Amino acid sequence: MKVLVTGGAGYIGSHVVRQLAEAGHDIVVFDNLSTGYRWAVTAGELVIGDLANEAEIDQVFSSHRFDAVLHFAANIVVPESVTNPLKYYGNNTRNTLNLLKAVDKYKVPYMVFSSTAAVYGMPEQTVLTEDLPLAPINPYGASKMMSERMVTDLAAASGLNYVVLRYFNVAGANPDGLLGQATPEATHLIKVACECVTGQRGMSIFGTDYDTSDGTCVRDYIHVEDLASAHVMALDYMANGGESKVMNCGYGRGFTVSEVIDVVRRQSGVDFPVTKVGRRAGDPAALMADNALIKKTLGWQPAYDDLETIVGTALAWEAIWQKKKAA
Ligand code: UFG
Repeated sequence: MKVLVTGGAGYIGSHVVRQLAEAGHDIVVFDNLSTGYRWAVTAGELVIGDLANEAEIDQVFSSHRFDAVLHFAANIVVPESVTNPLKYYGNNTRNTLNLLKAVDKYKVPYMVFSSTAAVYGMPEQTVLTEDLPLAPINPYGASKMMSERMVTDLAAASGLNYVVLRYFNVAGANPDGLLGQATPEATHLIKVACECVTGQRGMSIFGTDYDTSDGTCVRDYIHVEDLASAHVMALDYMANGGESKVMNCGYGRGFTVSEVIDVVRRQSGVDFPVTKVGRRAGDPAALMADNALIKKTLGWQPAYDDLETIVGTALAWEAIWQKKKAA
């Protein structure tokens, strides 16, 4: 297929581009390079453009005939979304609307949309199914919920088929060391812990009084390569006539913040200091994906469902990235 990948120079998008190329797809990446990098685009053509600019979007759609759009480009930092909500409603929600106008105008048949577990908010249960009511507790989750709704409403009114993937906690890196998370000022736990290993920063545990095995929050950490393979399978699924679906993407099990930090310390051999502080606003105690639907629908089977592997590839990448930055 001829595919447009927005945000294809970013962390998750770049891993997906690589797998799409291996599967034989023809790729155009559309990215403003705000948090992505040219070197991360290892296949296809890179068009530097901004989804805030409808003329730039139209230009890329009028010069290619896309079979599918995969939409990764977004801001993803929950605390930032609380202090700067309009940035999220602009870049995530309005810019998705801009993209959908082109998807509609040029009658693109397939779309894969990157959504998040943040659309669920603070549910009562810890293992989440897709049919739970959506009740985001921060502007990031709300911006993605609204975008999901636009995708599903457009599909209902047109010939568009979609797969919405709700990501849980994405981490790790391609094991061959060519790609990994290079996002500036990252806030995600495993990335932050890896930066502590190389002495770039210190870190805190946000809350030790949750109702979990050791008092710290539980999350479902999924390796970025497994997340990427779900996207490739989603395209095959739609091309084979599969109906539009919203699916969780996680492993269905969780680790506490302290467990994750212990694995990073043990694997790196660096006993970096960690400060225990109060809870971070908007953190649910435990979130895990019920992944029965994606396994059944796509036949998706994780290949890296192992915290040691996730942390090992993240640490290996961090060392490579530090050298790359210094060079
Ligand atoms: N944490 C720390 N210290 C840090 C960073 C994180 O203790 O320096 C803790 C957090 O408080 C949380 C856990 O580690 O308990 C995971 O936090 P992350 O920031 O890595 O990830 P989140 O669970 O907040 O966010 C993830 C996705 C979001 C999505 C959300 C849904 O990255 O995109 O899950 O809950 F919105």
